[in-house]
Amino acid sequence: MKVRAAYVLPSLLLAILIPVALGAPAATRYDETYRPQIHYSPPRHWMNDPNGLVSVHGEYQLFYQYYPDAEVWGPMHWGHAVSTDLVHWATLDTALEPDPNGMIFSGSAVFDEHNTTGLAREGIPPLVAIFTYHNPKAEANHEIKVESQGLAYSLDHGRTFQKWPQPVLDNPGVRDFRDPKVQWFAPTGRWIMSLAATDGVRFYSSSDLFHWQFESTFDRQRLGPPGVWECPDLIEMQDRQTGERHDVLLVSVNPNASEKDPPSVKRSGTQYYLGHFDGHTFEPDAASTQPRWLDEGADYYAAVSWNRDHTALSTPPVVLGWMSNWSYAQRVPTKSWRGVMAIPRQLELAQEDGRWSLRSVPIPSLKALRRSTIHVEHPVAAQLGDLANGLTAPTAALDANLTVQSPGRRPYALVLSNQQGERFAINVDPERHDMTIDRSHSGEVAFAENFGTPINVKLPESMDAVSFRLLIDRSSIEIFVDEGRVNITTLVFPTTPYTRLRLEGDPSITIQSVDIFGLDSIWSTAAAEPTSINP
Ligand code: FRU
Repeated sequence: MKVRAAYVLPSLLLAILIPVALGAPAATRYDETYRPQIHYSPPRHWMNDPNGLVSVHGEYQLFYQYYPDAEVWGPMHWGHAVSTDLVHWATLDTALEPDPNGMIFSGSAVFDEHNTTGLAREGIPPLVAIFTYHNPKAEANHEIKVESQGLAYSLDHGRTFQKWPQPVLDNPGVRDFRDPKVQWFAPTGRWIMSLAATDGVRFYSSSDLFHWQFESTFDRQRLGPPGVWECPDLIEMQDRQTGERHDVLLVSVNPNASEKDPPSVKRSGTQYYLGHFDGHTFEPDAASTQPRWLDEGADYYAAVSWNRDHTALSTPPVVLGWMSNWSYAQRVPTKSWRGVMAIPRQLELAQEDGRWSLRSVPIPSLKALRRSTIHVEHPVAAQLGDLANGLTAPTAALDANLTVQSPGRRPYALVLSNQQGERFAINVDPERHDMTIDRSHSGEVAFAENFGTPINVKLPESMDAVSFRLLIDRSSIEIFVDEGRVNITTLVFPTTPYTRLRLEGDPSITIQSVDIFGLDSIWSTAAAEPTSINP
């Protein structure tokens, strides 16, 4: 084995020095234990779902469910951050606050370029946010009509918003009626809203974002798992080779948000259907009547895509998920903040075992953070044991790529560990085509009884050698198997960073190659504190 280590930049030092230079208070140095170094997390307090994802003139808007007064869920606001590369983020001032109509729950944003709303001023088209008003008084009175859809608009790229005084879509008598995802649908020339309603998705259409016409419902009576459906998204996609159009319907399903239920790890996750939307109804493909997981891990929820310009449908959509799980989200052991987004992922269509499927891979711009490398020459036979030791210094996070082959189809394990003996294991059984993620001894686990429960994942039968890409941050591991054919996202809380990567198992196992990149912290180059950026 030949190991080459080329550390280039003492980025950890930079991560510490730059926020100090900006005058950021100690609590927001982005260097606390467990503070993600390549993922967006708010400077302080509670965050859940991504909201209002839209890109306008090269700037990606990220709004999010935010409670600015505590590290647990509370009356929801929209927090706000922006990026030009989907990697580095600047946190801006809170965008939307609760008002007498209610708290500001999840929703989306569109750029009304052709001024269908009539809200443009002096030739500046509005950025329009459409979100759910959740009325706590109505909820306390056990009323049914608790949720309605509100509108706010901005003429300065989301820096400030003006709220429309009344909801634009009233509640028709459905208790869970939320999370509007609005986008322009070119074939019918209308805005389309996908809205979660109990265990279904309702579609509405509009010519001006104010008046909404009911179109149809896609619900669990026809297909799908039990639980409350949340955060739908309808994504138009095109196959790169044939130009064939496919529509993807994302739905996050939360069996029960209560923390008092019996332990079981798969409590919430994002699923998808592939099919066709004609402007009125969504029809799943015959081979896609059962939903599939967009990510098989325990901690990937409320994933939705950035609204794209409808003339750019051939470019891959980018989705963002919240890296947590409602069954323990409010108890994870972070201190001054709670909540983190996953890496933005590009979606691709692919044929898988005779039917269309989605693959998701990290956005390419992430590679710009790569600084140091450990490269193991290939092919390496009987490469059991240490693949790398002393992994983390001096960079902040890791991007590890390796391909494992088990000709004898014998089980093996890929194990990350630290000096404390804490370990995170990916156990693979090639014969049974399955993988078990074991974080039972990964670090702090006792904060929730189901956090240590192993997560079992089925691998496609056609998968032979298994290539892994692991994105390892201070409190998360995202696993991309075989170029995103299977993804598994998990939180972990090792008390000190993992420093070793080992392969354990039968000596017949071979590794084709190993490349491990140390990554710069995204906070070494972006301001952590709220910033005022002139539009
Ligand atoms: C999903 C969700 C949404 C809701 C928001 C409230 O995680 O429950 O349905 O709008 O969170 O914060």
